Amino acid sequence: MEEIIKTLYSGVQPTNNLTIGNYIGTLRSWRGLQENYNCIFAAANMHAITVRQNPAELRQKTLSLVALFLACGVNPQKSIVYVQSHVPAHAELCWALNTFTYVGEMERMTQYKDKSSRHADNINMGLMDYPVLMAADILLYQTDLVPVGLDQRQHLEIARDIAVRFNNAYTPTFTVPEGLYPKMGAKIADLQDPAKKMSKSAENPNGAVFLSDDKDTVMRKFKRAVTDSENAVKYNPESKAGVSNLLTVYCAFSGKSLEEAEKEFEGKGYGDFKLAVGETVADSLAPMQAEHKRLLADKAYLESVMADGADKAEKLARKTLSKVYKKIGFYQI
Ligand code: TYM
Repeated sequence: MEEIIKTLYSGVQPTNNLTIGNYIGTLRSWRGLQENYNCIFAAANMHAITVRQNPAELRQKTLSLVALFLACGVNPQKSIVYVQSHVPAHAELCWALNTFTYVGEMERMTQYKDKSSRHADNINMGLMDYPVLMAADILLYQTDLVPVGLDQRQHLEIARDIAVRFNNAYTPTFTVPEGLYPKMGAKIADLQDPAKKMSKSAENPNGAVFLSDDKDTVMRKFKRAVTDSENAVKYNPESKAGVSNLLTVYCAFSGKSLEEAEKEFEGKGYGDFKLAVGETVADSLAPMQAEHKRLLADKAYLESVMADGADKAEKLARKTLSKVYKKIGFYQI
């Protein structure tokens, strides 16, 4: 029997600077996932505009994000890499799915509540509709698996609910997707405030390590990271949130297990530990940064990747959309 290869979908917003949280939470797994799945990776620029963006910057960040996907090891011959706004079916399916989504559900979304308090002057409909657009992204491609960090879990659950709701209202139309969360590092914390997630839009820039940070900056940020007074490198997210977060980052970048890492730093102080974390992260980022820079200089190539990706994505997306249109009773000509 022919083996059925599962479809995997993920997206990242081309906003601000990406952090090692984005990398550990999802990006770093993409290279390997391509070996086992049909992968589709999107620069989610339609999500980005739910918060006001500078147009020239948004354009540049979109190009830069596509280059970053490739620098992280995504192979555009194997996987589909595209920009969300290049495939109109996203907006179209979003509209149809809006009619299967309740306002109350959207009002309860944590990210919506958080973003509307941070952008109180611009609580636009798009901000509220954000999870429905994300559901459209995922469901258009009959996605089985969605590798994301834990902050996206609630959005993924809603995508599943919408899929089931639609399938039950008609006949099975959408694959019901599953989240794929990393065992370690599904929620990397802010270095200055370990109770918060590390975020692209961190208020304190020392709290987030950006993928574009140079070695000096990386070293400085880890040196200043909040720990505790115990001076023991042990993993315990409840009582030692800061140190546990640093251990997670260290393991993610070094490939070592928690036990190995704890053993390595047994009897050593936080000073040595932070130095080692900083070195490991900076040295791992360097080749990726060099490749990113090389790719960014080749705009023609990046645009050809985008165009080819949009073409392939569009074909798959249209198939699902026309099924949906048929089921809901849109007149077909
Ligand atoms: P975005 O751009 O905020 O984040 C991109 C990815 O990074 C993960 N992430 C983290 N993981 C671990 N620790 C952290 N501190 C951390 N911060 C961010 C996120 O979980 C995400 O996987 N809505 C999405 C983009 C999107 C999408 C999609 C994702 C649009 N359509 C369809 C999957 C499927 C977002 O804003 O991600």
